[in-house]
Amino acid sequence: MRLSSVFLNISAKIEYYSRFSPSPLSIKQFLEFGRDNACEKTSYMFLRKELPVRLANTMREVNLLPDKLLAQPSVRLVQKWYMQSFLELLDYENRSSDDPHALNDFLEILIEIRNRHNDVVPTMAQGVIEYKEKFGFDPFASSNIQYFLDRFYTNRISFRMLINQHTLLFGNDTNPAHPKHIGSIDPACNVANVVNDAYEMAKMLCEQYYPTAPTLKIKEFNAKAPDKPIQAVYVPSHLFHMLFELFKNAMRATVENYEENKDDLPPIKAKVTLGKEDLSIKISDRGGGVPLRKIDRLFNYTYSTAPSPSLNSKRVPLAGFGHGLPISRLYARYFQGDLQLYSMEGVGTDAVIYLKALSSESFERLPVFNKSAWRHYQGGPGADDWSNPSKEPRDASKYKAKR
Ligand SMILES: Nc1ncnc2c1ncn2[C@@H]1O[C@H](COP(=O)(O)OP(=O)(O)OP(=O)(O)O)[C@@H](O)[C@H]1O
Ligand SMILES: [Mg+2]
Repeated sequence: MRLSSVFLNISAKIEYYSRFSPSPLSIKQFLEFGRDNACEKTSYMFLRKELPVRLANTMREVNLLPDKLLAQPSVRLVQKWYMQSFLELLDYENRSSDDPHALNDFLEILIEIRNRHNDVVPTMAQGVIEYKEKFGFDPFASSNIQYFLDRFYTNRISFRMLINQHTLLFGNDTNPAHPKHIGSIDPACNVANVVNDAYEMAKMLCEQYYPTAPTLKIKEFNAKAPDKPIQAVYVPSHLFHMLFELFKNAMRATVENYEENKDDLPPIKAKVTLGKEDLSIKISDRGGGVPLRKIDRLFNYTYSTAPSPSLNSKRVPLAGFGHGLPISRLYARYFQGDLQLYSMEGVGTDAVIYLKALSSESFERLPVFNKSAWRHYQGGPGADDWSNPSKEPRDASKYKAKR
C-alpha cells in the first residue's frame, strides 16, 4: 500500500471514531464491575472501542490549535505518541475475545500505551512554553490554549483511569498493600488519612527548600454519621494528588509570608466535612493571600510566581510549573466535583475540594469533540461588553449644559 493511502486510511479511522461520544462511567459502575467477578472479556470488548473513541475525540481537537503551536517539536512528539497508541489499539478491532492470545496481548499493549503517555503533561507544557516564548500569547490564543489543555488533560486522566482499572483487575500488577481496592478505587477511603499522607509528603519537600514547614491541624465534621470517620468511595491517588498540590502551595505561601518569624509559623488547617451531597475538604493557610484580581489567573497553565524549575534537575520542585492548581481542579471535576480558592489578601487562603458524597453521582466528566467545541476555537475575541475603568476620569465640567 502506498504511504499516502495508509495515511488516508488512518485519518478516516480517526474521523470514524471521533463521531462517537465517549461513554462516561460512574465510580459506582467501576466498582460494581470490578467487584462482581469482573469479566475480562467484557472489559476487553468495551475498551477496544471506548479507548479509540476517547483518543480520536482528543486527536481531532488537537488539530484545531494554532498552526505555530502544532509545529513545536514537543507538541509534534505528543501527537506522534497519540497516533502510535491509536494505531496499536486498532489492531484489536477485529480480534475476537475468544482468541486466547488477544486478551493477553491487549493487556500488554495497554501497559505499553500507559508508559508511552507518562510524560504527556510536561512535554505538552514545554511545547506551550516554547510557543509563548517565540510568539507571545494574545488573549484569544491564551483562552483557546487554556480551554484546550483543560479538555486534553481531562481526556488523559480518563484514559489512564480506564487503562488502570483493566490492568489492575486482570493483570499481575495488583497492589498487595491494598487488597480491598477495586482496581484504583478504595471503597472505604479514609479521607483524613489521605490528608495526613499528603501533608507529610509536602512537608518533607518543603523542608528541603526551607529549614521549616508549618504544622497541620485536622478537624472532621460528619453530618451524616456524627463521630464516625469520613470515608469516601474514591480513587485515593487522585485525592492525594490534589491535596499534595494544595499543601505545597499553602506551605510555600506560609513560609514566605513569615520570613522574619520562621520559628513561629501559623499552622495549616484542614477541615473534612460530609453532608448528603458533598464531601468537602478545606485547606486554610495564613500565607498572606492573593488579591481577588489575580485569583482566576492562578488556574492558568503558565502562571506561577515561583522561578521556573529546571527540567533536568533531579530535585523535585516545590513550585514553578504553574500546573498544580489547574490540574488538581481537573481531577476534582473529573468525577463531578470542583476545586475553588477563596482568598483574603493580607491574611491567607482557603482552598476547597468538593467531591460527590455518593459514588452513583460521581460520573466521569468528559470532553466531547463536537460542533460547540469546534466553534469555541473559531470565534474571535469579541469586544468587551462591560465597561473598563478609564485611566483618566472624565472632566464632567465639559458636559455642562450651555446656558
Ligand atoms: N495558598 C496560596 N497562597 C498564596 N498564593 C498561592 C496559593 N496557592 C497558589 N498560589 C499562587 O498561585 C500560583 C499558581 O499555583 P500552582 O500550584 O498552579 O503553580 P505553582 O505552585 O507555581 O507551580 P506547580 O506547578 O509546581 O504547583 C503560585 O505560583 C502562587 O503564586
Ligand atoms: Mg503549586
